[in-house]
Amino acid sequence: MCGIIGYLGNKNTATVLTEGLKRLEYRGYDSAGIAVFHDDCIQIRRTEGKLAILEQMISKESFNGHTGIGHTRWATHGKPSDRNAHPHKAGGVAVVHNGIIENYLHLKKTLQNKGHVFNSETDTEVISHLINDLIEEGCSFEDAVRRALQQLSGSYALGIMFEGEKKKLIGARNESPLVVGLGDGELFIASDTPAVLNYTREFIFLDDGQIVVLSDGKAAVKDLTGKTLRIEPRYVDWSPLMAEKGGYKHFMLKEIFEQPEAMINTIRGRVSREKGAISFEDFSLRKKQIEALRRVAIVACGTSFHAAMVGRYMIERLAGIPVDIDIASEFRYRNPLIDKGTLMVVISQSGETADTRAALREGKRKGALSLAICNVVESSIARESDHVIYTHAGPEIGVASTKAFITQLVALYLLALYLAKGKGSIESGTVRNLLAELIRIPGLAKDLLRNASEYQTLARKYASARNFLYLGRGINYPIALEGALKLKEISYIHAEGYPAGEMKHGPIALIDREMPVVVLVANDDVREKVMGNIEEVRARDGIVIALASGNDPEIRQKADELIPIPDTAPLLSPILFTIPLQLLAYYVADFKGNDVDQPRNLAKSVTVE
Ligand code: F6R
Repeated sequence: MCGIIGYLGNKNTATVLTEGLKRLEYRGYDSAGIAVFHDDCIQIRRTEGKLAILEQMISKESFNGHTGIGHTRWATHGKPSDRNAHPHKAGGVAVVHNGIIENYLHLKKTLQNKGHVFNSETDTEVISHLINDLIEEGCSFEDAVRRALQQLSGSYALGIMFEGEKKKLIGARNESPLVVGLGDGELFIASDTPAVLNYTREFIFLDDGQIVVLSDGKAAVKDLTGKTLRIEPRYVDWSPLMAEKGGYKHFMLKEIFEQPEAMINTIRGRVSREKGAISFEDFSLRKKQIEALRRVAIVACGTSFHAAMVGRYMIERLAGIPVDIDIASEFRYRNPLIDKGTLMVVISQSGETADTRAALREGKRKGALSLAICNVVESSIARESDHVIYTHAGPEIGVASTKAFITQLVALYLLALYLAKGKGSIESGTVRNLLAELIRIPGLAKDLLRNASEYQTLARKYASARNFLYLGRGINYPIALEGALKLKEISYIHAEGYPAGEMKHGPIALIDREMPVVVLVANDDVREKVMGNIEEVRARDGIVIALASGNDPEIRQKADELIPIPDTAPLLSPILFTIPLQLLAYYVADFKGNDVDQPRNLAKSVTVE
């Protein structure tokens, strides 16, 4: 899982590449490198560590060529090191790669037997050797790439350049994302659009098994047989500013504050409050189809899985359709009972998560109708699903997911209402009221964000705790999990989320006066039970940090700390409870001086199994 970029144009190539890589660092950041032409030769600069080290390394150099490729790495084969950093060069061929070549050991052996000498432990190096070998056997650059790709199995997004053709760059894609940017007299390839949004908004989204040849100011898309394909470019309306920090210290903080607007974008154009109507651009089912649904299966990973858990409550409660939820990496190995009567919903911010993608394929293979809830437009999962609901959260750069999660919850709520209305399981008046409540949510979220400085003070007070427990019940149990995950990811403090009712079956043993227990108390039918859990924590001298709907004097009296949450419909309460938990985690991590946007060992988009 890495970020790649390629450039062919008249600007300073090294600058375009490093600027683009900065916007791709969310995909990996354990080493970085570029390859650029200088005086007709390909120069490679690469190093272990973050991009800033590479920038420092090349700061006093200048390259006069106008073709280049760049890479920011998240190690899969071979530990982070200078020699495992990309680009990899063999003979005159330089390659950057995102993905995994599954048959690389076999290919490596064959090439070694022919005298090729390898310098790294990566799977990628085999690609540069293979192409170089074919060129030495007499193939043209383009033919060599095609023939090499035919021998690879696995996933790849590639940027390839060759010393013999200074003004040509080739990109290729199979199961890892690659876009082609069409600028004014310049061309780009990149793992993701924000890398080059400064230069163009016009993109071609490559499909698996396609290559693109950039030369003479044109981008020619071809298949692996060399047949030219006509693919219409698309206009991406994310502005470059949207992909930058906009004055916030970290992307994560910016993205938390963007949530009210992000939710508005998820709702925009999809609801009519007066008519009590919900519609989606790319998903509609007839009443009969909805009635025929025997179940909904929701599959996702990580934070998106927590959204799936909330989605189950929403759909079962409103539409009365049974919902199964699965972690994607478990799903396909348990021979799930999926059939034509199943609506399979896959949730993914990136739309590239390998496990989720594999689960989607498994569900489709078994005959399910598939629907993706995705943020990244034209991502692999979005394109492979029968239908898609885009969350329209805008680019999420911080590794810890925030606005993508919130907008997933909104999309799931809309989906639940849509199914309920279609099935006739709730009355029109109720639909109108529930939509009206949804429309209030962005404003209530804004109110919560105004209290950010209070959460900051709280975070400082507890930043030295070594463990945290998060308790929630019903629809807010997944939010306890999400709060704990956010804290773990960026502050490296051990945190566990638990269903409040389970506390006395084990975790209660952990509670002592050192242990902050974050308790989520919504205005729902389990409120009194959760109040009982607060008593249990207090009786063991635990520290209670309560997040509670409404302004309840009883909780104020019982809790050590209270974060009031605006009152809303129980099904929408998870959205509001999430926001202070995100900020709590953020401020603890920032107070500890951690790299919030790029936490250790994590990468934004997990495109390997
Ligand atoms: C946590 C986080 C991850 C992702 C997970 C799935 O903050 O970001 O747990 O939610 O890797 O990613 P997507 O949603 O892109 O499939």
